[in-house]
Amino acid sequence: MNKRPVFRTALCDMLGVEYPVMLAGMGTAGGYTLTAAVSNAGGLGMLGATFLWPDELRSWIRKTRELTDKPFGVDILLPAAIPKDFDLGKIKEYIPPEHTAFIQKMARDFGVEGARMKEWPISEEFGRSQFQVVKEEKVPFFALGLGTPDWLIPEAHEAGIKIVSLCGNVRNSVKLKKMGADIIIAQGHDAGGHTGRIGTFALVPQVVDAVDPTPVVAAGGIADGRGLVAALALGAIGAWCGTAFLATHECFVDFVELGMLNRATIDAYYRKLIDSDEEAEQITRIYSGKTTRAFKNKLDEAWEKSGLKTLPMPLQSMLMADLVQGMMEKGETEYFPMFAGQVTGLIKKVRSTQEVMDDIIGGAVKILGEKFPAGLTIKA
Ligand SMILES: Cc1cc2nc3c(=O)[nH]c(=O)nc-3n(C[C@H](O)[C@H](O)[C@H](O)COP(=O)(O)O)c2cc1C
Repeated sequence: MNKRPVFRTALCDMLGVEYPVMLAGMGTAGGYTLTAAVSNAGGLGMLGATFLWPDELRSWIRKTRELTDKPFGVDILLPAAIPKDFDLGKIKEYIPPEHTAFIQKMARDFGVEGARMKEWPISEEFGRSQFQVVKEEKVPFFALGLGTPDWLIPEAHEAGIKIVSLCGNVRNSVKLKKMGADIIIAQGHDAGGHTGRIGTFALVPQVVDAVDPTPVVAAGGIADGRGLVAALALGAIGAWCGTAFLATHECFVDFVELGMLNRATIDAYYRKLIDSDEEAEQITRIYSGKTTRAFKNKLDEAWEKSGLKTLPMPLQSMLMADLVQGMMEKGETEYFPMFAGQVTGLIKKVRSTQEVMDDIIGGAVKILGEKFPAGLTIKA
């Protein structure tokens, strides 16, 4: 017998799901296990495929389907933001020698010189090859952070795929509406991972007004029923949640098989999520060259002391990649990037994905079904 409460918005019909909650795309955290778990819990799982090569992506899509018969999507970062004047063949030559020297010294000091991170060729060609797999595997939703390239939406629509595009300001939301994005994620400053300058409460209603009637989903700082109800009050039709699902048993685990995480890193991540308050993170450019919210750590401190300027995307991530991999392999978790949003103060323990979803939906039902009718007085 299904005892799950009913809590639906227009987003549920658009996505074919029970609850208006989307798992945020998280390229280092949301593998097939978490994606399927969110879909099974009634939301829309999103496979964080940023770092997946086409054959890996195909395999992870199929593994997701082994774990759920519910809808899910795929999320990547497409390089709309990469400066056009880079010759990608010679890309490493753009990294200044003083930057390389600093990183090499750190690698020497920590004894992690031989480490090599999984290659991630940030290029339009790579993004196209990922999209091709999404098409072939008939995944119904494709999400993009950091920009949506012009060619994508017509091709996606022809294949019957809905495009979910992230933005951090009104200007970009209007651009996405004109391009024909099906769902716009208004992602506020509070968010973990790459993030913009405008707070969620200010951003969402302004995007809702600017792109009407395109549906808007709110992101950044939503981790329980209160956040979901607030998102709906701001005019969004649902929530895109990342940090809320980080402290779950299903999160991170699949990235171990790619060599991108190990047990020590995952346990350290959980500890940080549980122990941290809302001030534990900071905005930094050291991981990708773009503003990213991550836990403060010693790698940031070391970079700051160096006095070096961060490089534009994709140079900064290429510069850092092998050092970060080495720190992960050696268990130097204070020198390893851990993206997380400002809601970490709400996270008290590692739970199952189902428990997190129950908390979000149960909390929202309580507010709207019990608290408001009891305590609210309105005179028109
Ligand atoms: C660990 C982590 C990894 C992320 N990786 C990606 C990514 O690969 N692609 C993407 O579009 N957004 C990425 N994001 C941003 C999320 O999609 C989302 O917008 C954000 O988590 C929402 O804010 P919240 O963390 O407060 O819920 C990431 C966020 C986190 C916390």
